[in-house]
Amino acid sequence: TAHQALIQALPKAELHLHIEGSLEPELMFRLAARNGIALPYPTVEALRAAYDFDNLQSFLDLYYAGAGVLQTEQDFYELTWAYLLRCRDDHVVHTEIFFDPQTHTARGIAFATVYQGIRHALDDGRAQLGISSRLIMSFLRHLSEEDGFSVLDEARPFLAGIDGFGLDSSEVGHPPSKFARLFAACHALGLPCVAHAGEEGPPAYVWEALDLLKVCRIDHGVRALEDAALVARLVAERMPLTVCPYSNIKLRVFDQLKDHNLRQLLQAGLCATVNSDDPAYFGGYVQENYLGCARELGLSQAEILQLCQNGFEASWLAPADKAHWL
Ligand code: ADE
Ligand code: ZN
Repeated sequence: TAHQALIQALPKAELHLHIEGSLEPELMFRLAARNGIALPYPTVEALRAAYDFDNLQSFLDLYYAGAGVLQTEQDFYELTWAYLLRCRDDHVVHTEIFFDPQTHTARGIAFATVYQGIRHALDDGRAQLGISSRLIMSFLRHLSEEDGFSVLDEARPFLAGIDGFGLDSSEVGHPPSKFARLFAACHALGLPCVAHAGEEGPPAYVWEALDLLKVCRIDHGVRALEDAALVARLVAERMPLTVCPYSNIKLRVFDQLKDHNLRQLLQAGLCATVNSDDPAYFGGYVQENYLGCARELGLSQAEILQLCQNGFEASWLAPADKAHWL
């Protein structure tokens, strides 16, 4: 691939990664065996073969079921550590990851178990691999706002190690407006907020995320391009979009990678970034996403550099740390 050496060599930031979506089938089987859980697939290959999605919901059904093997703090540690080793291989030097506590508390796993396992791995990643990170607690939008308030209460003892809040899961039918009060409570804690919007949902959901949830980044946001006034606003505010190219192909937002609008987003002057979303399910970590886009969209060297820089610009690193990478 053209620019392969450049992509491998450039330090990268990842800003849109669901840690539960980095659960590889091999680890899922190992944890299922260790925890005495029966999986509905006989082999790793059979499980992987089931990763053939029609839309976001068909993926989410498998993703939430797969997360059921995660039971102990050690399980969450190993999940996160495996992802950080992939970051090292991909030259990802900074990562801001989501976790979905409601997926786990709903099945009786303590918030502390989930949080501590992830937190210890991130701390070890900083100390042993030199990878800096942020942890974003994400609310499940198919659940009620009240449910979001209860998990926020459970998070209170751990807020020193939580860097911000997000909103994910089934988008259509669950607009940002459903969570306006919850996000006001999050802002009152002094932490930044992001939201998935404009993945499958319409541009109106992106407007709501900006106006009602006061987010500082839009996760996905690829459908913003349908609304010229929205694009103008996103450009004027230099509002980042955390784009996930392979995710959009696997979930049928675009037909093929060559049809993805990443390049148009950049050409419109948007702060687009490249991310992997749920790499164990979508078949590529962040470097694969860069390589695939470079190949299929014919990205120039300048565009690749811009995408990498946008990742650091859009990150929550302190200005001095950003300056180090920019
Ligand atoms: N949860 C994990 N991945 C997601 C995605 N791409 N969209 C919404 N919710 C998610
Ligand atoms: Zn996502």
